[in-house]
Amino acid sequence: MAALSPDGILLTGRVAVVTGGARGLGRAIAAAFAAFGAEVAVCDRVTPPAGDLAMTLDVRDPVAVEVFAGAVRERWGRVDVLVNNAGGTFHASFQGTSERGERTLVEENFTQVTGMIRRFLPMMGEGASIINVTSSEAHQAAPGFAIYAAMKAAVESLTRSLALELAPRGVRVNAIAPDALPTEGELAMRATVRAAEAGRSAAGRPGGAEAPPFEPVRLPPLGRLGEPSDAAAAAVFLAGDLARFVTGTTLHVDGGIHAAGGWRRV
Ligand SMILES: NC(=O)c1ccc[n+]([C@@H]2O[C@H](COP(=O)([O-])OP(=O)(O)OC[C@H]3O[C@@H](n4cnc5c(N)ncnc54)[C@H](O)[C@@H]3O)[C@@H](O)[C@H]2O)c1
Repeated sequence: MAALSPDGILLTGRVAVVTGGARGLGRAIAAAFAAFGAEVAVCDRVTPPAGDLAMTLDVRDPVAVEVFAGAVRERWGRVDVLVNNAGGTFHASFQGTSERGERTLVEENFTQVTGMIRRFLPMMGEGASIINVTSSEAHQAAPGFAIYAAMKAAVESLTRSLALELAPRGVRVNAIAPDALPTEGELAMRATVRAAEAGRSAAGRPGGAEAPPFEPVRLPPLGRLGEPSDAAAAAVFLAGDLARFVTGTTLHVDGGIHAAGGWRRV
């Protein structure tokens, strides 16, 4: 039986790729990986912070992703950790979402993930780890975010299937489902939900506005919001040797929101 060592948490010498690394959870994950000893390649559609390798690209663009993969291959020849963190949405009812808007959400939250895995998997071997960042909304109804939530649920399903397909070659595949971790993206989303709510009150007709008359829980059961480093801590665990027997699962980093279901702290 292999003894556990504090060193098991370290990522010394591992090569990690993080998408959406310019801000929010992606930036926290990339910084934590570096702090735990990994060499980190980040990409983002806005200029990413300086990493061991940093590229500005849109992960929906297969040609740009191929160039990124080529740069990683040339620099290290392998990848030990791939974090598919980039993603996002806008707030609108299903009927208020055009087919073009729907395609954008599918590409932004699903097909770019399969595209990243396709291009980086050939560089991943025994002991490597894929971490897909999903959302608590993959596990519950999400009025105003229907397509986004469906795509995050699709990524969760993909996570489980790939965990089995890749188990024979020793590559683990897991998801982190965050919620209530304030970032620019998360705060902007909460603001648009509140603005829609205010618009409805002003109009005096519940449900009359474009967005559905629901809002997400404001306070997780733990009684406070989390922070990006909470997702980073989960990513460090899933990336390293301490998680060597963990695959095909989802780590909820949400202060208890997923567990709470219909229960709200008062
Ligand atoms: N913060 C939370 O509580 C929370 C909750 C649920 C899900 N999430 C998920 O966590 C992930 C990170 O979210 P965040 O809160 O840090 O959001 P954020 O908007 O603050 O940061 C996302 C980063 O990803 C980049 N990005 C987005 N789409 C991209 C693309 N197509 N190509 C390249 N870069 C792209 C953005 O430029 C940005 O830098 C997302 O997948 C999001 O859906 C976060």
